[in-house]
Amino acid sequence: MKNLIDILDLSLDEIFDLIQTAIKIKDNPVNYLEKCKHKKMATLFFEPSTRTRLSFEAAMYELGGNVIGFSEAQSSSSSKGESVADTARVVSCYSDIIVMRHPKEGAPVVASMNASVPVINAGDGGHNHPTQTLTDLLTIYLEKRRLDSFTIGFCGDLKFGRTVHSLISTLCRHKNVKMIFVSPEHLRLPGYAVLNYIDKNHIEYVETNDLDSIIPKLDILYMTRLQRERFSNIQCSSSMDNPYILTLDRLKNAKKDLCVMHPLPRVNEIERLVDSDSRACYFKQVLNGKYIRMALILKLLEIE
Ligand code: NCD
Repeated sequence: MKNLIDILDLSLDEIFDLIQTAIKIKDNPVNYLEKCKHKKMATLFFEPSTRTRLSFEAAMYELGGNVIGFSEAQSSSSSKGESVADTARVVSCYSDIIVMRHPKEGAPVVASMNASVPVINAGDGGHNHPTQTLTDLLTIYLEKRRLDSFTIGFCGDLKFGRTVHSLISTLCRHKNVKMIFVSPEHLRLPGYAVLNYIDKNHIEYVETNDLDSIIPKLDILYMTRLQRERFSNIQCSSSMDNPYILTLDRLKNAKKDLCVMHPLPRVNEIERLVDSDSRACYFKQVLNGKYIRMALILKLLEIE
């Protein structure tokens, strides 16, 4: 049995296979309508979600399977004091695969150690979000036809943004990827990420707080919102306003084939006028998320 807790659980070949399967599903969804007939997926969401939970559920329904679960901790027995370990063991009795989002880093690992069915991490605290990363990789592949040799800028809350941490960790395995990190001083990439991913793989990178000066260099711009729910009081006082708003005006100096990404939800990081620019890829990302999750469910349930 295989789980997906960290994107680094998957080899580059496995990721590439998932991307190929997702493209096949996207091109020919009718071939997959009954693949998960009689299978059940449990979505255990202890933290809010729109895209991740609904795309997993839509994915399972489009594979002919069923979905059970909860969308807030209050409606589960965790509000009575049940442990993640017990919840995972119990839900294994009712389902073939578990998708879990939790505010505590590491909760999905604990679940996977106690479940008897595969567990997928759908986001754990400020740590990791491997299925958003698969979504991002599929989007980059569809837009650029490659997963190497580009310059990517990450902008916003790089300290608490788990989608950023996961994407960086796997892109560090690809050739000739240059990274530019744009954030306020107090929301820079955590030291462990610089050490374990960037330095370890000798990745060329720059840290700056100036978005305008780096926009012309980018092939991909990955915007993120401030993760206010994870801020301490000190961070709150110094960062109530988001200093980085992507406007059409700012994009004037960008490459014509720049790919603007955002895991969503958007607060105010990208002005709405950008949505109709050909470089905006964030709503395409949303749709890609469903197909790559379909591919992932098939893989973990070992269905051809
Ligand atoms: C992200 C998350 O939950 O980390 N959302 C998502 O799953 N697409 C990003 C965010 O909340 O900012």
